[in-house]
Amino acid sequence: KLILVLNGPNLNLLGKREPGIYGSATLDDIGAALTERGTALGFAVEVRQSNHEGDLVDGLHDAQARGAHAVLLNAGAYTHTSVALLDAIRAIEVPVIEVHLSNPHAREAFRHTSWVAPAAKGTIAGFGADSYLLALEAAARL
Ligand code: DQA
Repeated sequence: KLILVLNGPNLNLLGKREPGIYGSATLDDIGAALTERGTALGFAVEVRQSNHEGDLVDGLHDAQARGAHAVLLNAGAYTHTSVALLDAIRAIEVPVIEVHLSNPHAREAFRHTSWVAPAAKGTIAGFGADSYLLALEAAARL
């Protein structure tokens, strides 16, 4: 049973990038915590990151092809721009949980719109690195 964790642009810089907003944990730290908790819950967790929109689309297709149990998707700034991601989520049957470290609704107006949200099973945002762990718990319960 696989849970795929897809991360979008600039999330490779986590830990160094605006730590006041995104925290000091790196994506590797988050991946290690997810793998540990996933194992305890009976899931294999695979974490990917790309700065390229199409790679995220490919990742969603891949989740479907591999029969993944769920996808956790932090699309970064593509959240607010990408109709392609919306379409890709609608094109697959695997449930997708939208994840954000920060709470986009508490930030600039341009972050208040998510193209991912209308097709997502649900959204977890605002809890820093814990957003991923909370999303993993939610995914495991689906
Ligand atoms: C983010 C929020 C987005 O608005 C931003 O562009 C990011 C990170 C988050 O995890 O809080 O890159 O998705």
